[in-house]
Amino acid sequence: MNHAIFERNSIILLIGALIVVSIGGIVEIAPLFYVKSTIEKVQGMRPYSPLELAGRDIYVREGCYNCHSQMIRSLRDEVERYGHYSLAAESMYDHPFQWGSKRTGPDLARVGGKYSDAWHVEHMRDPRSVVPASIMPGYPFLDQTLLDTSNISRRMKTLQTIGVPYTEEMIANADKDVVAQISPDTKEAKALLARYPKAQVRKFDGQAAGENVPPTELDAVIAYLQMLGTLVDFTKFDASGPNLR
Ligand code: HEC
Repeated sequence: MNHAIFERNSIILLIGALIVVSIGGIVEIAPLFYVKSTIEKVQGMRPYSPLELAGRDIYVREGCYNCHSQMIRSLRDEVERYGHYSLAAESMYDHPFQWGSKRTGPDLARVGGKYSDAWHVEHMRDPRSVVPASIMPGYPFLDQTLLDTSNISRRMKTLQTIGVPYTEEMIANADKDVVAQISPDTKEAKALLARYPKAQVRKFDGQAAGENVPPTELDAVIAYLQMLGTLVDFTKFDASGPNLR
């Protein structure tokens, strides 16, 4: 009987359908934000250092994700080619995540440590100089462009508000840490390493290092590429649980 009202009036039917669908949506989606096990924590994961974060932002700005994915699926051929399949926790601090679905080039989730910095410098400047058949565009302006760090601490603060565990100390030292990461053997570099374990400290773009050498955009991109997939120690990782924290 009561059904007649829905069957005769399309607007009321539409509103009724919307209400029912949103109840279903809330029941399925809302818990993901509260249930702790949605993303299992894994030892070794930390937020990006300011230089790595700047590199990531350039990666997004240049649209590298249009050709590169960052998610190794748990299929045998993928694991044999790229390494251990990606864990959800490995992109938990990525906003937005860079999983991607387009692979004109290879997956980059574990490219860190695969090549030397010098290889990356050449490859970014002119991909065909190291991979003759490459169809990747060159980015020769990156090592000519000084890194703009004027808003890096604000970017970290934004990420903090959406749940990335940057501490006030990390945000306060952001500018210093950008320079520290290209200044090996300094006490600033030591402080950076205490804040960001496993951060790699060196001049990445092959240009002369030293005091008052500002980081280039290429420093940031290579620092980012060289850390991708290196935080979790997979010699100790056991997917069945014991090493999950
Ligand atoms: C038009 C598509 C395209 C775009 C855009 C692109 N790449 Fe590539 N990339 C490729 C292809 C194809 C390869 C494989 C051939 C080669 O090594 O150059 C590749 C290879 C690479 C590799 C080596 C991966 C490996 O495991 O051998 C890295 C690192 C890389 N790209 C980084 C980047 C970065 C960083 C950007 C953005 C600044 C970028 N790419 C933009 C297509 C692209």
